[in-house]
Amino acid sequence: NDVVMSGKGGDGEKIIDPALAGKRAAARRAVEEHIRSNQVVGIGSGTTIISAVERMVELVEARSLNNIVCIPTSFQARQLIIENKLPLGTLEQYPEVDVALDGADEVDADLNLIKGGGGCLTQEKIIASCAKEFFVMADDRKITDALGTYWKKGVPIEVVPMAYRPVQLKIQKHLGGVVELRMAHKKAGPIVTDNGNFLIDWCFDGTPDWLEVDRKLQCIPGVLETGLFLKMAQKAYFGTPEGNVTVR
Ligand code: 5RP
Repeated sequence: NDVVMSGKGGDGEKIIDPALAGKRAAARRAVEEHIRSNQVVGIGSGTTIISAVERMVELVEARSLNNIVCIPTSFQARQLIIENKLPLGTLEQYPEVDVALDGADEVDADLNLIKGGGGCLTQEKIIASCAKEFFVMADDRKITDALGTYWKKGVPIEVVPMAYRPVQLKIQKHLGGVVELRMAHKKAGPIVTDNGNFLIDWCFDGTPDWLEVDRKLQCIPGVLETGLFLKMAQKAYFGTPEGNVTVR
């Protein structure tokens, strides 16, 4: 069940993902329980969403899923929709999304998430915020007691390029921790997001009040969006390497 995939953080390094079976089981179950004909569906980014799209295609081919429109959360999601010949739409055409599906880097007991490990977060958050229902799919390693303990790379934050340095310093000064600019493979340069921005990763200490921290981060000029998805998800599906799924 292992798969070779691009390294976390988009650095191009090849790693083996031992969690694919769990991601796949969670994604398939979420699709079966929540995707229905005539819906506008938000398509998340990462590896887990690939299995969700795969299951949607199977249902479309079996004619038990008809007339859906898929709204991508990234360039990767757009490619995935096109390659799988699913109908593609935009928020301009469909500002109200019925259901959004996405993966996560960490999920706590209140279904608060850290996202953006793969470099996408702003469009993901916009689409999740436009969805009547937002469901998370992940392998069970992503379950955490306290956000920040699994991913250990902190909270990804998308910043306007010319502001990255002052934003970095302001976060360190006012919120503590360490903020790093996310670099491409072999430090070829900073990772550039789908929106033409940079990503910084904030490694913090302790267990902050996430709503307060997110509000403070969002108030810093130059911060476009954070990878903190707080009180957004209605349900999370977690798969084990054996293919079992638990729902929270
Ligand atoms: C992309 C994301 C992904 O949803 C998150 O990183 C989970 O990825 P994967 O499905 O590959 O485990 O936020 O930036």
